[in-house]
Amino acid sequence: MSLNIPFIIALDGPAASGKGTLARKLAEYYNLALLDTGILYRAVGWNVINSDGNPEKETDALKAIEKLPDTDLQNPALRSESTGAAASKVAAIPAVRKALRDFQRQFAYNPPENKAGTILDGRDIGTVICPETPYKLFITADVKTRAKRRFLEEFGESGTEEDLENILEDLIVRDERDTNRPMSPLKKAEDALLIDTTNSSIEAVFEEAVSFISNKKK
Ligand code: DC
Repeated sequence: MSLNIPFIIALDGPAASGKGTLARKLAEYYNLALLDTGILYRAVGWNVINSDGNPEKETDALKAIEKLPDTDLQNPALRSESTGAAASKVAAIPAVRKALRDFQRQFAYNPPENKAGTILDGRDIGTVICPETPYKLFITADVKTRAKRRFLEEFGESGTEEDLENILEDLIVRDERDTNRPMSPLKKAEDALLIDTTNSSIEAVFEEAVSFISNKKK
C-alpha cells in the first residue's frame, strides 16, 4: 500500500445486493469510517419530490443539492423503494454526479483520526470515485432475490404479492437505468472481486471479502 493513499475499500453493486450489510461489517472489522453514497443520491431525489420537482430535470436536481446540508439523512423515508427510484433518476444527471464527486473523494481520502481508513459503498466507487485503491469489491445477486430482500426490509410481514411485484419491477428499471447511463454507470472495476450473494450467508460473503483484502495487503 502506498504511503500517500489511505486504506480505502470501494464497494459497488446493484440495489439490495447486500452491500450495505457487508459495508457495515467491514467498517467495524477494520475500524473504517463508512459512507453509504446511495444516501446522498436518495436525499437529492427526496428533496426534488418534496418540492414537487421532476427528478429527471437538471435544474430541479441542482436546487435539491443545495438543500443537502439541511436534509435529515436518517429519515426512514429516504430508504423506501420510491425514493430509490427518484435517486436513480437524479443520479443519471452528469451535473449531479459532478457536484457529489468531490464530497465523496474528500471523505475517502480524509479518514477521521481514530479510524484506520474509509469504506464507501455505491455504484461507481471502484471505477470513478476511488479507482486508485486496490481494495475493490463488486457485490451482486439475482434480481428476484434482491427484490425479496428489499420487500422484507420495507414491508416486513405485512407486504402483499403486489408489493413484491412492484419492488421487482422497480429494481429491474433501476438496474437498467443505473447500468446504461452514459456517465459513471454501475460497472464492476476490472480488478474488483466479484461476489454473488444469491445463495450465500452474510458470514460467508464477509469471509470472502476479508480474505481478498488481507491477501492484497500482504
Ligand atoms: O445504493 P442505493 O440503492 O441506496 O442507491 C440509490 C440510487 O442512487 C441508485 O439506484 C443509483 C444511485 N447511486 C449512484 O448512482 N451512485 C452511487 N455511488 C450510489 C447510488
